[in-house]
Amino acid sequence: MPSSPTTFLPLGKLMIGTATSSLQIEGGDRNNNWYEWAQYPGTIADGTSPLRANDHWNRWREDTELMGSLGLKTYRMGIEWSRIEPAPGQWDTAAMDRYREEIALVKERGMVPLVTLHHFNNPLWFQRLGEWEKPENIAHWLRFVGHVVKGLSDLVTDWVTINEPNVYATSGFLFHEAPPAKKSYRLALKVMRNMAIAHCRAYRLIHGIQSGARVGFAHHMRSFVPAQERNPLHRLASRSSAFLFQDELSHAMLGGKFRGVLGRQPSDISPGKYYDYLGLNYYSRTASAGFEDGTLPGKPVNDLGWEIYPQGLIECAGWMHERYPAPIWVTENGTCDNGSPTSLENFRCRFIYDHLAAISASDLPFERYYHWCFVDNWEWADGEAQRFGLVHNDYATQTRTPKLSAEFLSRIIAEGGISGEAKREFVDVQRYRIG
Ligand code: BGC
Repeated sequence: MPSSPTTFLPLGKLMIGTATSSLQIEGGDRNNNWYEWAQYPGTIADGTSPLRANDHWNRWREDTELMGSLGLKTYRMGIEWSRIEPAPGQWDTAAMDRYREEIALVKERGMVPLVTLHHFNNPLWFQRLGEWEKPENIAHWLRFVGHVVKGLSDLVTDWVTINEPNVYATSGFLFHEAPPAKKSYRLALKVMRNMAIAHCRAYRLIHGIQSGARVGFAHHMRSFVPAQERNPLHRLASRSSAFLFQDELSHAMLGGKFRGVLGRQPSDISPGKYYDYLGLNYYSRTASAGFEDGTLPGKPVNDLGWEIYPQGLIECAGWMHERYPAPIWVTENGTCDNGSPTSLENFRCRFIYDHLAAISASDLPFERYYHWCFVDNWEWADGEAQRFGLVHNDYATQTRTPKLSAEFLSRIIAEGGISGEAKREFVDVQRYRIG
């Protein structure tokens, strides 16, 4: 039965798919710094390591078939640097062939691939060289970028250079949540600067190899509000968090403008345009009282305590688009919903509905939406316990079971939007938890 037009949320122009990263799903790779990090006691909440993950390195065919059967239109995936270049300048052609096969199947099943070239983890050899702290190391990553883009240019035109440089820099160099677990504002800013330089150079490099390429980076942005509106220190904390965590970085990475906390303008980069789309990873809002994350009381929260604040997606996209106009690709949006003993999830459909409703109501040029993620995957320091997937994974048997949200997203794609009936069936039966 068609639903009444007044309740139909049109999304026909939005290309919808899912996003993931290589390390979080593949398993089997010991040549990267997160595998090494996970060996230290106490680093990963549940003591797991990325060695198991989803065993996607071997199960890529069944995972891709499942995505195809849901009708997903695009797939953001990572190419694992530590596999492709196991030692500096040494290329593993079998690993590249394996990715080529996977991407060919992704395309055969009707999905446009979007390939990420750095997503949090590094090859061990790059780590040992001092990784992103050292500007001279940028050339190593660019060599990898050139190799991958040349090797895949007949299959892929859409690229994410770097995933969330701000999260990378702060979790590894300020907050002790990731390797190399240092604690220094100076280093965190230095790493952001080096990643911004790397992105601008990669933008030019990729376009030099492939004229039709679409290149951007996945920017993690949050809405920031003062924990207490009347407290001037909280207001200052919220403004400075946004400035230091995301705004200055946007100017460097999108506009090639380096200044202030990110240091002097590099001699080979002039202000200009370093994006073909605006990549936005949006999850939550922060209530600031200092530089740590906080949450306003009485708001809906996910199972990690992150506030669910759909309007923030529009606020962040709007901030970027006002300054750097381009089509918006939501390169990640999703939530941790661990379900209950009787149900695989409690509120993911509602989360999807609320964020897509905000997109549908907005005048901004949203072009793509990537739900994070397809199958529950290895969630960095949170290990296997926290679940973001549309599809449940039983890690012991590697059995995939689609959740209600997988069916919901599939229906949204098939119907070109959200009907009143789909809302009643998938959304109205779910509830948020209040924090
Ligand atoms: C990262 C993902 C991560 C997700 C959920 C994003 O910041 O890009 O790798 O799994 O958040 O925590």
